[in-house]
Amino acid sequence: LDRQPFHGPHQAGIVTPQPAAALVVALDVLAEDRGELATLLRLLTERLAFLAEGGPVPPLDPRLPPADSGILGPQVLPDNFTATLSVGASLFDDRYGLAGAKPRHLRPMDRFPNDSLDGKLCHGDLLLQFCANTAETNLHALRDVIRHTPGLVSPRWKREGMLPPQVVKRPGKDTVRNFLGFKDGTANLDASDADLMRRQVWVPPGGPEPAWAAGGSYQVVRIIRNFVERWDRTPLREQERIVGRHKDSGAPLGETAEHALPDYASDPAGSRTPMDAHIRLANPRRPDTAASLILRRGYNYSAGITASGQLDMGLLFICYQSDLDAGFVTVQNRLNGEPLEEYIKPVGGGYFYALPGVPEPNGFLGQSLL
Ligand code: HEM
Repeated sequence: LDRQPFHGPHQAGIVTPQPAAALVVALDVLAEDRGELATLLRLLTERLAFLAEGGPVPPLDPRLPPADSGILGPQVLPDNFTATLSVGASLFDDRYGLAGAKPRHLRPMDRFPNDSLDGKLCHGDLLLQFCANTAETNLHALRDVIRHTPGLVSPRWKREGMLPPQVVKRPGKDTVRNFLGFKDGTANLDASDADLMRRQVWVPPGGPEPAWAAGGSYQVVRIIRNFVERWDRTPLREQERIVGRHKDSGAPLGETAEHALPDYASDPAGSRTPMDAHIRLANPRRPDTAASLILRRGYNYSAGITASGQLDMGLLFICYQSDLDAGFVTVQNRLNGEPLEEYIKPVGGGYFYALPGVPEPNGFLGQSLL
C-alpha cells in the first residue's frame, strides 16, 4: 500500500500522492566523460529503484564499513518513497557533448523583480526530489545515493520540506496549510486526471521538444522565504485580500465552500476579489490563460534563524509543466508586483527537466538522452 512503483512511462513523484516529507538536493556532476555520466545514471537508477521497493540491507561484515547507513535499521521499508531525477541546463554545456539535446526551454532560472537569489542555493547539473512519509526515509536515501556515487557527484544545495502529516496529500484533491496559515492547493490541478496531465504536465512525443524528452516534464523549484513575523502582524482582512481566499475555510472571497469557483466575470472591477489578489493574478480563469495551468507540488520549510534574527521559513515551491514558458514563467510574470511580495522573498531554486520514466527493469534514467 505504501509502495510507489519505480518503473513506468513517467517518473514517480510528479502526479503521485504527496506524503508528509520532502527533500530536494542539487548535485553537480563530476563525471569525466559521457561514459562516466552513463555509469552515474545507471548507479542512481539502481539505488533509487531499490529505495522505492525496499528490502533487507546487505549483511554486516565487521571488517568493512557497513553497506548501509543503518538509520532505518536492517530493513528498508518503502514508506511511500519516490525519487524524481531532473537535469539542469548546465548538464548540456560542452562537457558531455549534449548541447544539441537540451530541452528547448531549459536555461538557468530567470531572475524575477522580487527575487534575491543566493547563488549557493541555485541551479545544479542534477536535481533529486525525494518524497516519503518520514524525513528519515529521505535522509537515508540521500546518504545511500552519496555513498554509492563517490567521485561522480558533488552536492550543491539541499532543502527539506514538510506538510502537516495527517494526510498523504493527493495533488489537487486534499489541501493542507502553508506557513502563512492559508490552505494551499485548493485550486491545484487534479493530478489523477490523466487527460489534463497529458495536456499540461507531460511532454508529448512528436512535439517541439527533442524526441528523447517525451514523457518528461519541466520542473521549477523556488525557495521562497516568508516574512512570517510581518505576516503575523497583518490584519486578517488584509491577509485575505492579498491571497483572495478566506483564511479559515479556504473559500474564495465572498463564498463559504472551499472548492467554490471564484466568479471573476461578475466582479470585473475587483470589488469582491481584488484584481491583484494572488489567486486572481495566478489564474485569471479566462480562456486565453488556460495554457498557463501548472501542477504545483510544494512543501513548507523551516530552516533556522537569519543573520538579522528572523525565522527562516517559507515555501519550497515546486511545479511541473510541459512548457516552462507557457506555464511557470507566464504565471510568475503575472504575479510580479503582487501585494504578497511584501511578505515573500524567493532566495533560491532552479529550472530543471524531469527525465522520462524507466519503463523496463533493465533500463536506466536518462537512457534516451545518452
Ligand atoms: C494559489 C500561496 C507562490 C501559483 C495559492 C493559494 C495560496 C497560495 C494560499 C490559494 C489556494 C490554492 O489554490 O492553492 C502562495 C504562497 C506563495 C505562493 C504563500 C509564496 C510563498 C506561488 C508561485 C506561483 C503560484 C511562485 C507560480 C508562479 C499559484 C497558482 C494558484 C495559487 C497557480 C492557483 C490559483 C487558482 O487556480 O485559483 N497560492 N503561493 N503561487 N498559487 Fe500560490
